[in-house]
Amino acid sequence: MRTKYCGNIRIIDINKSIILSGWVNKIRNFGQFIFVDMRDYTGIVQVIFELNNYSVFKKASILKNESCVQIHGIVRERNIKNKNLKLSTGEIEILANKINIFNISDPLPLDYLNNNSDDLKLKYRYLDLRKFTLIENLKVRNQVTCLIRNFMNKKNFLDIETPFLTKSTPEGARDYLIPSRNYPGKFYALPQSPQLFKQLLMISGVDKYYQIVKCFRDEDLRSDRQPEFTQIDIEVAFMSSKKIRSIVEQLIKKIWLKILNYNLNKFPILSFNEAIKRYGSDKPDLRNPMEIIDILNIFNKKNFFDFFRINSERKNRIGLLCFPLGEKISQKKIEKYCSYVNQFGAKKLFYIKIKKYEIGLSGIQSSIKSILNEKILNKIISQVGAKNGDILFIIADIETIVNKSLGMLRIKLGDDFKIFEKNIWKPLWVINFPMFKKDKYGNFSSVHHPFTAYKKNHEKKFFNNLENSVSDSYDLIINGYEIGGGSVRIHNAKMQKKVFDIIGLDKKDQKEKFGFLIEALQYGAPPHAGIALGLDRIIMLLRQTNNIRDVIAFPKTTSASCLMTKAPSQVKDQDLNDLGINISIE
Ligand code: AMO
Repeated sequence: MRTKYCGNIRIIDINKSIILSGWVNKIRNFGQFIFVDMRDYTGIVQVIFELNNYSVFKKASILKNESCVQIHGIVRERNIKNKNLKLSTGEIEILANKINIFNISDPLPLDYLNNNSDDLKLKYRYLDLRKFTLIENLKVRNQVTCLIRNFMNKKNFLDIETPFLTKSTPEGARDYLIPSRNYPGKFYALPQSPQLFKQLLMISGVDKYYQIVKCFRDEDLRSDRQPEFTQIDIEVAFMSSKKIRSIVEQLIKKIWLKILNYNLNKFPILSFNEAIKRYGSDKPDLRNPMEIIDILNIFNKKNFFDFFRINSERKNRIGLLCFPLGEKISQKKIEKYCSYVNQFGAKKLFYIKIKKYEIGLSGIQSSIKSILNEKILNKIISQVGAKNGDILFIIADIETIVNKSLGMLRIKLGDDFKIFEKNIWKPLWVINFPMFKKDKYGNFSSVHHPFTAYKKNHEKKFFNNLENSVSDSYDLIINGYEIGGGSVRIHNAKMQKKVFDIIGLDKKDQKEKFGFLIEALQYGAPPHAGIALGLDRIIMLLRQTNNIRDVIAFPKTTSASCLMTKAPSQVKDQDLNDLGINISIE
């Protein structure tokens, strides 16, 4: 139905007869001529209908924008004053000599080139996808998945599919449940990830597994989360965490090079504890140059603790952020940032505005002036490396509150003042997460998932000091986004049961939920490790959008519905009867 794509016609095609199929992007009727901008997924080309070819001209005159047509014509050079060098096809046009109209379009319910409400865009997603930026996102997504498959294939990974109708795999979210018709009252769960199947494949003897796979999680959605999303899921037997990281690093470098022509340097590695201490976050955006600096040593005396109202018996921290654009921070803004950190538990945000530190205390403006003298001021300035023009934000509180509050303030200041360069990429590995976290009732849960092994040589801590026990785990972070996470796995049934015990899974539940895994671990399970990368988030970064919906063909709303198909929807009573389901909604 076509001999050429619209976006690919160039000056070398002059005088060629061609056939195009596509859509009327825009039509302009000048009486003597009709100009049609014709579009397909490769681009736009200008077609001209002349009155002297009357039968074709007449047919073209009934066209409406977005009609679907086939055009036969000859490529000709535009005269010099009509050339449009901004358009890749702007030097030529097509003189039409035949037109087949496949479909005249009704007026569209949205002008997809303009801003529309999110609801309208999602309801008419198939029309919104006519936008070139969105099509380009899907093209890049396709390029990346091809590249991943090639890379993994060359490294002898086997692409193996795992079931969607399965049992729950705990990844921290709720499951999407599917009722079973054959077993009324019983449910499948859609996988939150293929975690257990990939581990079982290792036990089968599959050496290197990967899959580009849909995962399903019923959780609160954010701009980088969808209820169904795609993972590049990887698992390898007899391999250390270091080697897994190295494979993933090669893959990510390759993607950035091929898609963005950007050379990523070796990814730095930070331990979880260090990341929290320096950035107040386990997914720091390293484009932001600020770090939390500890100044507890300077104020480690009772009278200072009284001033800051901190209880010396607790694990405290006095942390500081040095922000270089002090002159842009008015008193009003300081108050705004103070209420911002209040929501993370910090009672107060102190500050020192350094105007001219050479002249001592009269060269600064500060909310802690009453406890400062020149010696202390100089100590702070030299410890922090501050300069004139900086503002120092200080929080003194329980360590966790200081970390969280200054970590969030660091991000907020970075966003408000755009202090980082554009078009740079700062990947890093955050490793050695704690095995467990404890809630206020004293219950433990896994920080990664419960199949994660503790760090080699940390056996003592694991058995004697659960709160400080460290897992052999790693997250990949790029520009503040968690792109992937993985770990070395437990490959011993006894240890797996021990972890289930710690997180409060009673024996009955262990057997019912994970009996098959515990049994499998008893039949010669090899040591193994793996990781899963979020494909959607990778494409988001590559396409520099901050909304995951832009890189998914048919995404859901933030409340997990599809406005186009109106899913989820009610079903017939008969279908519910077959499933043995009785709905009672209050
Ligand atoms: P995890 O839960 O960390 O690990 O998920 C891995 C990566 O998947 C992406 N991701 C998401 N992307 C979009 N929407 C979501 N709702 C969403 N949830 C997660 C993130 C994340 O880093 N089985 C383990 C991996 C392993 O241990 O091998 C797992 O799923 O980029």
